[in-house]
Amino acid sequence: MQSVWSEDIKIRRREPLAGDMEVTAVVIGAGLAGILTAYYLKQAGIRVVVLEADRIGSGQTKNTTAKITSQHNLIYDRLIRSFGRPMAEHYAMANEAAIGEYDRLILEKGIDCDFVRCPAYLYSRIETDLLKREAEAAESLGIKASYGTECELPLSVAGVTRFENQARFHPLKFLAKIAEEVEVYEQTKVLRVEDRRVETAGGTVTAEHIVFAAHYPFINVPGYYFARMYQERSYVVALEGAERPQGLYLGIDRDGLSFRTCGDLVLLGGESHRTGVNRKSRSNKEMNPGDSGHTEMNSESGTGAGCKYEVLRSRARELYPGCREASHWSAQDCITLDGLPYIGRFSRRKPFWYVATGFGKWGMTSAMVSARILTAMISGQDCPEGDIFSPQRHFTAQAAKGLAVHGAYTVKGLTKHLLPWGNKKIVPNCPHMGCRLEWNPEEESYDCPCHGSRFDGEGHLLDGPAQTDCRKRERG
Ligand code: FES
Repeated sequence: MQSVWSEDIKIRRREPLAGDMEVTAVVIGAGLAGILTAYYLKQAGIRVVVLEADRIGSGQTKNTTAKITSQHNLIYDRLIRSFGRPMAEHYAMANEAAIGEYDRLILEKGIDCDFVRCPAYLYSRIETDLLKREAEAAESLGIKASYGTECELPLSVAGVTRFENQARFHPLKFLAKIAEEVEVYEQTKVLRVEDRRVETAGGTVTAEHIVFAAHYPFINVPGYYFARMYQERSYVVALEGAERPQGLYLGIDRDGLSFRTCGDLVLLGGESHRTGVNRKSRSNKEMNPGDSGHTEMNSESGTGAGCKYEVLRSRARELYPGCREASHWSAQDCITLDGLPYIGRFSRRKPFWYVATGFGKWGMTSAMVSARILTAMISGQDCPEGDIFSPQRHFTAQAAKGLAVHGAYTVKGLTKHLLPWGNKKIVPNCPHMGCRLEWNPEEESYDCPCHGSRFDGEGHLLDGPAQTDCRKRERG
């Protein structure tokens, strides 16, 4: 089922690339991060084109809950302790500036995209100390934040952390308008990138600067993003007849949910889990080294795959008796080892390649942050706030723990296909690096637990980093 954003917007089609060209910068990926980066590069006087394998906004931009916030779960207290106050301040101010820039741009261009300023809350039914500490940390970094106990949601909370002046909008209405100002080639899949040359089936683009903004970098070496990032799936049901909150809400408990209003609907989200892992067993912290803060759905119930939406529907019935489901959909997010995005130089070995990935659940604000940082880097401006987002930033204790957990999944996935097939079930291996895929009955897809590639029942590629379909084999 498609998201509510996809239902009421058609983005103008663009021609595929046909022939060779030379430009100053090329952006790979026409989601929000790619289009915004190209937009600001063009504003800076740089000749830029965007290459998109499918359609503008056809990736994760259309599956988001479209909250524009500097509130990224419990993060600021941790950032101060791990990176120091100046770096934490850069993260806070870059995200606050991103919200302001959306506001400014939407006003300047007169974009009708349902943009609304509103507060954002973290809530807990049991925890108060963490929320208090987070509010204090955020406030000390310059964010207007406070701790309290008042909450609009139909559940009792122990406390909330409130951030002022956050926002929500319709991501595809915004994207459609900004994309009008950018040169985009659709249905133009990048086959190979060699130094400054990008090859597609229809032609090549030679550029001084190359930006990888296609969700998960598909080049393994250099950069090694496959070793320091995994993917999570999460689920949304859109509810009619539910009381709509003014604010944006995110629960920090194991069964915490996400709430936001969208027109007449309430979007209820949650039930995150590592892609390709649909079973009980590990604690939330083990499953989510990047600390995305979302729950592993079956960590306690052990009900197995196939009930993510049912869990959300059951919670919806509890919270909003009599509500009706208007639609449901799922999203896929890249999670880094320390929970911060990778925005900056792709690798020290390729100083003219750039990357924007690992946005976690915070894709809207991170897309704007990426666009501003990458534009500054490419146009030679000073960008001190770039350090905290740099893919080459220092390795924290949390990242080390994340690496161990992520590495264990990868090793398991890689060795699993060597094991004998006990019950004659034959499942394809992932063409990315060979891990055994897991059948996901709820979404009828083969999902890879190593780095999150997904394929439909016929083996056609749904999500990277894999770049090709997988060979279809008999499923038992
Ligand atoms: Fe990397 Fe499957 S996504 S092995």
